[in-house]
Amino acid sequence: MQDIIAQLETMRQGARSGGGEKRVTAQHSRGKLTARERLELLLDPGSFEETDMFVEHRCIDFGMPDQKIPGDGVVTGQGTINGRLVFVFAQDFTVFGGALSEAHAEKICKVMDRAVAVGAPVIGLNDSGGARIQEGVASLAGYADVFLRNVMASGVVPQLSLIMGPCAGGAVYSPAMTDFIFMVKDSSYMFVTGPEVVRTVTNEVVTAEELGGAFTHAARSGVADVAFDNDAQALDQARRFIDFLPSSNREPPPSRSCLDPVERDDPSLDTLVPLNPNKPYDMMELIEKIVDESDFFELQPDFARNIVIGLGRIDGTTVGVVANQPMVLAGCLDIDSSRKAARFVRFCDCFNIPILTLVDVPGFLPGTAQEYGGIIKHGAKLLYAYAEATVPKVTVITRKAYGGAYDVMSSKHLRGDVNFAWPTAEIAVMGAKGAVEIIFRADIDDTAKIEARTQDYKKRFANPFVAARRGFVDDVIMPHGTRRRVAQSLRWLRTKTLENPKKKHGNVPL
Ligand code: COA
Repeated sequence: MQDIIAQLETMRQGARSGGGEKRVTAQHSRGKLTARERLELLLDPGSFEETDMFVEHRCIDFGMPDQKIPGDGVVTGQGTINGRLVFVFAQDFTVFGGALSEAHAEKICKVMDRAVAVGAPVIGLNDSGGARIQEGVASLAGYADVFLRNVMASGVVPQLSLIMGPCAGGAVYSPAMTDFIFMVKDSSYMFVTGPEVVRTVTNEVVTAEELGGAFTHAARSGVADVAFDNDAQALDQARRFIDFLPSSNREPPPSRSCLDPVERDDPSLDTLVPLNPNKPYDMMELIEKIVDESDFFELQPDFARNIVIGLGRIDGTTVGVVANQPMVLAGCLDIDSSRKAARFVRFCDCFNIPILTLVDVPGFLPGTAQEYGGIIKHGAKLLYAYAEATVPKVTVITRKAYGGAYDVMSSKHLRGDVNFAWPTAEIAVMGAKGAVEIIFRADIDDTAKIEARTQDYKKRFANPFVAARRGFVDDVIMPHGTRRRVAQSLRWLRTKTLENPKKKHGNVPL
């Protein structure tokens, strides 16, 4: 018996040491942690239960039978984050560069299947040289098996990808199908084809970092949600992020006791909106003053900054926030902001998270770049997402809600449950000046007349009461009481039920 125990311990030790000391040192010298070190930081101490530690590849080509490392380049299992169950896989770059073999893929598939069966999030830590070259099509089949599971798990359990090293070629498509992607600056990259291929095909000379580093994807392509400074920060924030999420679509959003009184008035909000309608103000200030303890997890903070998305809590329960940001492009909707917000609204709807929408939108961004880029289809994504969402939807219009953008931003007409407006709200087809210049085109050279008519138009339409008289806004509220009014609405909406017509799935404009 003692022999068997000793043998087991030796085997475990073999698996735990990964690709050996030299490769672990190389990993550290790049500023990266090993797969196991990462899991230690991600999960509650002592909670990790490993699965398939002894799995080995079955490749018989290229001398591979002599190169077997237990675990085969990925550490899988389950553990807890602040007491809640999560399933994890962490690719181990020290073992065959974390490359994905048939067996490696089977291990990932096993934890994904378990996560879906019991209803718990899947967190993938990606650090891999891609398909295991020695295995050929068996490795590609493994990728496809993972992709299929990503799709099947989508909307069932939250899926989070942390990119902590290379992720190239087909490997990018598993994270791409997960709900969120976190990247680490300077040590991770994602691209479909690397700098060498790019140079050969398009003559462009770029570094891996420029082509697919954390900054590129967090600020430029929008592929990543957040870029973090190092592994430890990314893992710590992943823990904080998971706290906001329900474990599956079968659960309500997590709720915890709230020390921040929901009755809290904030008089500073009464002067947040400047008197001059063309002057910007920071919508983030409003978000931080509404949510519990100003604790807001912003997603995609560096991409399409004209719209803010993220998760917070109100009265202890998670809420998704979507807010136009007047500080950037005057808060206009454009291609990127519509895509960014649409996917987030759909995420919230999948996982029963109520949506709070804060509106100050002068319309859609004009221009050939937008029209040629397909703003019609992309803008429609956000409209579609809001319209199909059945979760509680509370909207506050702080200032402008003009034209089609008014309709899009969780209006009453798209089944907004509670729609508030501040007294400063202007709900109209367009700004007063533009409207008058069209209706009274004949008087365009008479500045005095145009000015008088603009003032008249403003008085009649640039206010919340025209919409309130029709019931399109439920109430005009004092800014200082916004948190209380939103919290009260979310409270009575907790038992809301609403179902869309039965269908296989809708045809969202893509
Ligand atoms: N299949 C099998 N082994 C792989 C691999 C792959 N796809 N990618 C990396 N490895 C192995 C390397 O052979 C090396 O093994 P060793 O430690 O026994 O020498 C180890 O992983 C580390 O790779 P290395 O190239 O030394 O690391 P690096 O940091 O210099 O470069 C990459 C990392 C990912 C840029 C580089 O390994 C690479 O280009 N890999 C191939 C990518 C690819 O074409 N994948 C297939 C298509 S998706």
